[in-house]
Amino acid sequence: MQNRIIIFDTTLRDGEQSPGASLSVNEKVEIARQLARLGVDVIEAGFPVSSPAQFDAVERIAGEVDVTVAALARAKEVDIKAAWDAIKNASKKRIHTFSSTSDYHILGKFGDDRYGRSLAEKRKTVIRMSIDAVRYAGSLCADVEFSAEDAGRTDIGYLADVVEAAIEAGAGTINIPDTTGYCVPDEFAGKIEELYKRVKNIGEAVISVHCHNDLGLAVANSLAAVRAGARQVECTINGIGERAGNASLEEFVMALHVRQDVMNYETGVDTRQIYNTSRLVSGFTGIVIQPNKAVVGENAFAHESGIHQDGMLKNRETYEIMTPELVGVPKTKIVLGRHSGRHGLAARLKALGYSVNDSDMTDIYQRFTELADKKKEVYDEDLRLLMGDAVEKSGEYYHLDYLQVNSGSQAIPTATVRIGFNGDTMEESATGDGPVDAIFNAIDRALQHSSKIESYQVRSVTAGRQAQGEVIVRIRENGLSFIGRGVSTDVIEASAKAYIRAINHRMQSGQNETTIDETEEQFSTVV
Ligand code: KIV
Ligand code: ZN
Repeated sequence: MQNRIIIFDTTLRDGEQSPGASLSVNEKVEIARQLARLGVDVIEAGFPVSSPAQFDAVERIAGEVDVTVAALARAKEVDIKAAWDAIKNASKKRIHTFSSTSDYHILGKFGDDRYGRSLAEKRKTVIRMSIDAVRYAGSLCADVEFSAEDAGRTDIGYLADVVEAAIEAGAGTINIPDTTGYCVPDEFAGKIEELYKRVKNIGEAVISVHCHNDLGLAVANSLAAVRAGARQVECTINGIGERAGNASLEEFVMALHVRQDVMNYETGVDTRQIYNTSRLVSGFTGIVIQPNKAVVGENAFAHESGIHQDGMLKNRETYEIMTPELVGVPKTKIVLGRHSGRHGLAARLKALGYSVNDSDMTDIYQRFTELADKKKEVYDEDLRLLMGDAVEKSGEYYHLDYLQVNSGSQAIPTATVRIGFNGDTMEESATGDGPVDAIFNAIDRALQHSSKIESYQVRSVTAGRQAQGEVIVRIRENGLSFIGRGVSTDVIEASAKAYIRAINHRMQSGQNETTIDETEEQFSTVV
């Protein structure tokens, strides 16, 4: 059995399913480019049938990167057709289709008698639908992956039958997801071993795993599965994803890298790109990385106690199992300033993983000099924010054109905003309990739409009085959350930008467009 592990990154699909994490098309393209630089083997770019915005993003990414681009589709003809249409121009492409296989899912989703009267009949229907889906996908695309959703809680005998049928129908990759993050490592590895024993054609497919982190075991389960024979691992940057998230790419990859003595497997990931990728994803999604997060957290390489510091000074290996440089954490802080030239800026941005063409560089350099005037010392974190701001701005619906706020201990906080949209502007004023509330009220008036604020956070990005403030606003509409981030040396302005961007993310997510048909009916095999 080979020891090369295929890294299937699903940050842009399962990761984007994290509450609030909706990304614009431009942000997704920027992340996809960085994932390609990181060296992942497959990028799952989205779920094209779910909205026109998802379709556009997958199609754009398919035209941008030279890595296999996968598109998700339920076992439905309309989904598979949309997935194919979105990826067909990619240099390497994969359709990823799935059916639910656990009794929980079958009885829940296929409760209707049309799918069979008994559980046994319904199970047969699911197998037939899976075969039809894989065959149809295979008629369009040479590379087909099939997932048995909730495999972690699926009866092993039935799972073996589904897997065998999907391989027979032409799936080249079979994914075994622990959809609910329910399994523990030995048990999950046992399921993979059992499939190797029971499925007679298993040698014709790559076995993949996709673990969720509800019990904090996603990476441990993925590692155990690899030892049992899995050769593709599905994961996300910073472990973002549905509920508690997915297996974190950086943790999985570094576990293999650091512990080659006990797990002799390799990936194509350039570990030095991990830190940049992690920061890029966190910046665009607005999902802040917890300080003690393994590999990429702010404290991952910090040594606080005197005993530890002393040990480190004598020999790094006393308390460090990998160096920060190995994952791309810069050794020294590079500072740019108002005297830095265009070339110096371009070189630093390239090192941080941004690809900026000459025409965009003029605008970015202009923003950089404005920032350097206000701030004097410009750090990597400032540049990441500046770039995030530029990418977000390029795809936005509404933008802040003008802001005026009056506030003070004796004054009624009042804000006036002018919002630009499609060459037009809308201006309104409002009062509020404080300056930020007044701004939000004025924006609501201008857009004639009020959003529920779920959370509001401010943090300083770098140290010092001139530090930039980052504001993250999360709004909630129709049961869904949307995050917006605003950055400025003035946190009041950053608050206005963050709120407008959360609204932009709601617009970009296709919330106002058609939503998918949630019924499971599919193909002609439904009884
Ligand atoms: O968690 C899951 O089962 C999934 C599938 C669609 C692969 O995300
Ligand atoms: Zn998942």
